Amino acid sequence: MKKKSRVEFSPRVVAFVCKWCSGSDGNSEGGSAKKSPFKGSQVSSVSVMCSGRVQPGFVLSAFELGADGVIICGCERGSCHYSTGNEQQLEMFETSKNLIKILGLEPERLKLELLPPQDTGALNRVTEEFLSQVRKAGPSPLRRQGGNG
Ligand code: FES
Repeated sequence: MKKKSRVEFSPRVVAFVCKWCSGSDGNSEGGSAKKSPFKGSQVSSVSVMCSGRVQPGFVLSAFELGADGVIICGCERGSCHYSTGNEQQLEMFETSKNLIKILGLEPERLKLELLPPQDTGALNRVTEEFLSQVRKAGPSPLRRQGGNG
């Protein structure tokens, strides 16, 4: 009997990325602004001035609109251009995690990464790892129930 070929699940991921992260679209200091890791992929990148701007409501909206996963990328501790924005994100992230749990979403669908500004490949690397993680988790239960995709 012939094995049925399975079409690989292509997750929809929203990446909220601090513009000061090396390798982000908005960062010219990183030297790789022309090579966005998100071009041509299934990742929708949202550039923010600081990870501290990404409130839990943004995360919930992304899931409600059909995302299978959400990643927030900010500057590592001590490198936030607005002093404590990344520290605020660490606190808000706990709230976001609790809210997605209430919605019935698995914790692996949400990730926070605080990246060293000098590591120009970090953004690409963590995004690829996250895509792989979400691919394993499969389509979001919200998408399956709500018909957003
Ligand atoms: S400026 Fe990047 S996390 Fe605040």
